[in-house]
Amino acid sequence: MSEKLLEFLKSRRSIRRFKPDPIPKELILKLLDTARYAPSAGNRQPWIFIVVDDPEIKMKLANIHPWARPLEDAPLGVVIACDCEISRESCQVDCANATMQIMLAAHALGLGTVWLQTLRNIEEVQNIVNLPKNYIPVAMLALGYPDESPPPKPRKELYEITYLNKYGSKFIVK
Ligand SMILES: Cc1cc2nc3c(=O)[nH]c(=O)nc-3n(C[C@H](O)[C@H](O)[C@H](O)COP(=O)(O)O)c2cc1C
Repeated sequence: MSEKLLEFLKSRRSIRRFKPDPIPKELILKLLDTARYAPSAGNRQPWIFIVVDDPEIKMKLANIHPWARPLEDAPLGVVIACDCEISRESCQVDCANATMQIMLAAHALGLGTVWLQTLRNIEEVQNIVNLPKNYIPVAMLALGYPDESPPPKPRKELYEITYLNKYGSKFIVK
């Protein structure tokens, strides 16, 4: 089971092409329920999730920058926003944890996601989904049944990125 779980974690890919099939609400709720179990500083859980199925709102979000386009054809978007008043230093990290949890839960349920950058368009996203100013949209996801199976993206080798005790002292000697 543990080896299988590790393989599962490594097998997630960003999905940018989606089938038009709608996602049953129970599945959406399962994903978001899983996200609630992400770790957060002081267990403050500063996140909220905005599920976007309205085509007009989805299109506005898909147009915030050219790399957000995968949302255009996805049946659903999810904006993950964090209340930075209740968790000043860690709100963004907490919300990133919740985002990753949604992505992995989606993968487990046969759904695909891609994380779409929002941090250069904070005000624009706040306006599109009506977020109060204390909520930073940390991420948005395009979500749907995958219509592609991309190969894995290259990864840095472990020996390049691991150190023992101090930066510079290699943990893996090659
Ligand atoms: C903070 C963040 C922002 C990202 N923004 C975008 C984006 O705007 N558009 C996009 O297509 N992919 C985006 N991605 C997805 C990355 O390109 C992708 O995770 C990376 O290439 C590794 O591929 P993989 O997810 O298939 O392993 C983003 C990922 C992260 C974590």
